Amino acid sequence: MKYVYASKTGHVEKIVGKLGLDALKIIDGTEKIDGDYVIFTYTCGKGKTPSPVEKFLENNPSVKAVVGSGSTAKSHIETFNFGAENIGRAYNVPVIAKLNGVGTDEDIEHIRSELEKLSI
Ligand SMILES: Cc1cc2nc3c(=O)[nH]c(=O)nc-3n(C[C@H](O)[C@H](O)[C@H](O)COP(=O)(O)O)c2cc1C
Repeated sequence: MKYVYASKTGHVEKIVGKLGLDALKIIDGTEKIDGDYVIFTYTCGKGKTPSPVEKFLENNPSVKAVVGSGSTAKSHIETFNFGAENIGRAYNVPVIAKLNGVGTDEDIEHIRSELEKLSI
C-alpha cells in the first residue's frame, strides 16, 4: 500500500511521521502515484476538502481509504473532518480515522492496525 498526504499547518505531517510512513506529499495536486493508496487530509474552509487534494484524487482515482485530521473547536465541530468524509462518500471508501489535530496515541495505534488490515 502507498500513502499520500496533504498538510497545511503540520498536523497531518506529524501523524504520518508518527506512523513512520514513507508518504508522498501533495503540494498542488499535480503529483502522480501508481497503484492503490491511502490518503491523509485535513479539512479547510467550512468542511471543505483542500483543492489540491481534490485535484490529486481526480488524477489518481485508486484511493482505498482515508484518514482525516480536523478540529473539535467550536467553530469547526459541526463540520468535523468533513474534508475526509467528502472523499469517503465520493470514492466509496472507508474513513478509517478522524483525528482532532494530531490526535492521541490511541488514534495512532488505531490507524496502524487499520492500515495493517488494508495491506493484507
Ligand atoms: C480556515 C480553517 C478552516 C477549518 N475548517 C475545519 C472544518 O470545517 N472542520 C474541521 O474538522 N477542521 C477544520 N479546520 C481544522 C484543520 O483541519 C485542522 O487543524 C487540521 O489538523 C489541520 O491539518 P494540518 O496541520 O496538517 O494542515 C480548519 C482550519 C482552518 C485554519
